[in-house]
Amino acid sequence: MIEEYMSNSEYKTHFEKLRGLRSRIARDLPIKPGIHILDVATGEGYFAIEVARLDRSLKITGIDISQRAIRDARKNIEKQNFQDRIEIVEMDATKMRFQREEFDMAINFTGLEEIHMTRGNEGVQKTFLEVNRVLKPGTYFCFVVMPPEEMETEAQKLEVALFDYICGAKYLSNKEYEAMIKKAKFKLIGKRSYYTGMKFTSQQAKCEIRYTIKTAPRIYGVKTPSFEEVWTKFGQDIEKNGLGCYSKVVLMLAQKLEMFSNIKRATSPNTA
Ligand SMILES: C[S@@+](CC[C@H](N)C(=O)[O-])C[C@H]1O[C@@H](n2cnc3c(N)ncnc32)[C@H](O)[C@@H]1O
Repeated sequence: MIEEYMSNSEYKTHFEKLRGLRSRIARDLPIKPGIHILDVATGEGYFAIEVARLDRSLKITGIDISQRAIRDARKNIEKQNFQDRIEIVEMDATKMRFQREEFDMAINFTGLEEIHMTRGNEGVQKTFLEVNRVLKPGTYFCFVVMPPEEMETEAQKLEVALFDYICGAKYLSNKEYEAMIKKAKFKLIGKRSYYTGMKFTSQQAKCEIRYTIKTAPRIYGVKTPSFEEVWTKFGQDIEKNGLGCYSKVVLMLAQKLEMFSNIKRATSPNTA
């Protein structure tokens, strides 16, 4: 699917809305009534909210390391009157403070690339191990990623390369995710692609780049290059093709195969 440029009015709320992408994905999740779901790297809680809309019996716990994201998530959840069903906790995905086998499902909408930014490749692997530990046997981890080789248009390819370059927010390849989930005793049972059909104009892309360069060091302590450096490297291609904005994402469904007792603990033993 080819994407079109978003308007400037759409740009203002683009991340919150993503043209209904989150609700389309939520409807495809293997949800059962009454389950307790863990949302890993919940951000402002938008995916958790879409999943909560599916059924009034669902309970969701979202975790994130950013205090700002947590504050915004709680506000968004209150606006929807979901505070009784969605709880937000400040927690690192690589060192969760939950008991083992506490949850019936885990979800993640584009957070693994930022876990890569804050905790590196090893942090992404630890996250899969931690998710295994806190999930009940036979249940699912449903995560949304953008493996570089899945990107179809130039705008999509630029999106994954750009944010990796600016702050290390890196999506891994299919093979790398598959190896990590296998190591964490999950089995990949399904994969599905979704499209928003939209992309940034070069002016909007400039705003996004400036925003990331400014906020990533402040919030996460990561180093970022100057705007001039980034624009020298990517500007010409962005001018020509636009920049992807979640234009294509891939939902991966992984099922927990084995009990945690078969796996070495990913974090310190006193948090189990
Ligand atoms: C792209 S946002 C998530 C988007 C969100 N799931 C949604 O539906 O809009 C990525 C989030 O990952 C969080 N994050 C980064 N490193 C993390 C870590 N080690 N543990 C938990 N959250 C982390 C960031 O603070 C950020 O809020």
